[in-house]
Amino acid sequence: MAAGKFIAKGSFIVFEGIDGAGKTTQMRLLAGVLESLGLTVLCTREPGGTGIGTRLRELLLDPACRDINRRTEAFLYAADRAQHINQIIKPALQRGDTVLCDRYLYSTLAYQGGGRGLDTDFLLRLNTLATGGLEPDVVVLLDLPAEEGIGRVLGHGLPDRLESEKTDFFRQVRRGYLEQAARRPGIFRVVQAGAPAGEVHRRVLTALEIKID
Ligand SMILES: Nc1ncnc2c1ncn2[C@@H]1O[C@H](COP(=O)(O)OP(=O)(O)OP(=O)(O)O)[C@@H](O)[C@H]1O
Ligand SMILES: [Mg+2]
Repeated sequence: MAAGKFIAKGSFIVFEGIDGAGKTTQMRLLAGVLESLGLTVLCTREPGGTGIGTRLRELLLDPACRDINRRTEAFLYAADRAQHINQIIKPALQRGDTVLCDRYLYSTLAYQGGGRGLDTDFLLRLNTLATGGLEPDVVVLLDLPAEEGIGRVLGHGLPDRLESEKTDFFRQVRRGYLEQAARRPGIFRVVQAGAPAGEVHRRVLTALEIKID
């Protein structure tokens, strides 16, 4: 087995994609391979599961906060991200762990920007402050048509008429992701995710230049 340029002690790998694209599934499969290469792997996700992050999330989900301003909401997500990075991601990278993270700031740009139409320049500036400029070595974008993602999440075939409103939203999110990938070809690797999980896993390994003998 041989690992390519992205994989090393202390490398930071992010999985992105619309709901149901297979991020959690593929991250677990990759973690197994990296562990077998002898790396210490830390799998984490946003929201990061820190105590403060949990409190922030309660606030974001509280029906009493329904009238939250979209910018306020973006600040709270950014605060959660700052906590996650400083409490979990940075210490792990400093220990030499290989960090796999399920969603990162690209989700904010795709969902709040592409999906909800919030100013992407504002989101980018806010999140650059929150992350202190910490970027992953590589972003694996699992690309899937919106209908297929929703079908997977719902556990059945294509969405019905009521669910198609959601489909439009996820189409916008997908476009938001693909635009980011086109702008940042240096760190994005787009993987076609509309195939059985084992096949997508092989595509992820190829995208990361990992060769299994
Ligand atoms: N390649 C695949 N083909 C078919 N079904 C899949 C595939 N990969 C994952 N699934 C199934 O689709 C559902 C969503 O997968 P998963 O949770 O990995 O996606 P996700 O991107 O993490 O979604 P979310 O954004 O909702 O967390 C799960 O039920 C999973 O078992
Ligand atoms: Mg998931």
